[in-house]
Amino acid sequence: MYGYVPPDVLTNAELARMVDTSDEWIVERTGIKERHILTGKGLGTSHMGAEAVRGLLAKTATAPGEVDLLICATTTPDFVFPSTANLICDMCGIRNIGSFDVQAACSGFLYALTIAAQFIATGARRKIVVVGADKMSSIIDYTDRATCVLFGDGAGAVLLEPSREYGIIDTLIGSDGAGMPHLHQKAGGSRMPPTAETVAQRLHYVHQEGASVYKFAVARMADVATTLMQRNRLTGNDIDWVVPHQANRRIIEATADRIKLRAERVMINIDKYGNTTNATIPLCLWDYEAKLKAGDRLLLAAFGGGFTWAGAYLTWAYDGAGSAGNE
Ligand code: ACO
Repeated sequence: MYGYVPPDVLTNAELARMVDTSDEWIVERTGIKERHILTGKGLGTSHMGAEAVRGLLAKTATAPGEVDLLICATTTPDFVFPSTANLICDMCGIRNIGSFDVQAACSGFLYALTIAAQFIATGARRKIVVVGADKMSSIIDYTDRATCVLFGDGAGAVLLEPSREYGIIDTLIGSDGAGMPHLHQKAGGSRMPPTAETVAQRLHYVHQEGASVYKFAVARMADVATTLMQRNRLTGNDIDWVVPHQANRRIIEATADRIKLRAERVMINIDKYGNTTNATIPLCLWDYEAKLKAGDRLLLAAFGGGFTWAGAYLTWAYDGAGSAGNE
């Protein structure tokens, strides 16, 4: 696994100079202290995805020609088309294989992992790269204090291969399109294509009704975790690590509380990156990689716009100690 965040950091103190907010409010209500922002001219999500994939290929001694499928989960593609997955392949010298994007907002990385697991299980593919990447700063209104403090940019990539010992044991995906009014981007799609008016009305940014999304997020994240635990006859003691989507520290703590899991088993790095949408889960794995051991049992859970939700129960494939993780 490999992660990438761009070098520029946007702190709470800087945001407090841009909108009516404070470091104290942001830390207390969300747990976020800073986030990374991709600032280079002409750089999109593919830039970060390609950085993560190049790092992954080098670290796993995988030649670009060996990869036989690449899936990119993103909500901020470089273009409406072609897909960001196509661009990442080109930037990494991966030629002529199938590659496509998955859009499921913050649950996208786990949707993509679920799809990849089916290709591995059927034997149709042997080396699949799954990327989660988002340049959230490209759809954030930095005059809206309710959303601009929450999001950051980043990418992570994992390599899936067949294994008799380790791997993805169970996955769960779900959605409810009736959640759209609470969390969406109003313009820029086919329903409301971009015009001078939509730009002037600031409709190309994330619109979120925080309190309603919060309520659904806590309920669904806990439901995902408990369903996977029940289906696989697991108690809190059987789980080595919970890897939750990082949207708000309070959502993560409420989820851990509802499934009765000790805080030290829950991966949290929202303080450093904010909500990077499709990159939060791989960036958690990246930051905690040195602590992971082969055979560790991981429970991954996410909730996002749509609404969407997803989870995965898996055993980790290698000892992270001494690896090139981020900590
Ligand atoms: N600084 C200061 N005050 C603020 C800020 C800010 N940055 N943002 C909002 N406030 C104010 C509001 O205006 C409101 O003031 P009012 O009572 O005078 O109207 C007050 O704080 C409370 O607002 P709430 O929205 O109720 O605040 P809440 O405690 O719910 O926290 C938050 C807001 C952090 C957004 C929270 O609701 C949340 O985390 N929601 C879920 C986010 C999530 O899970 N998203 C899904 C994934 S994202 C994706 O899929 C793309």
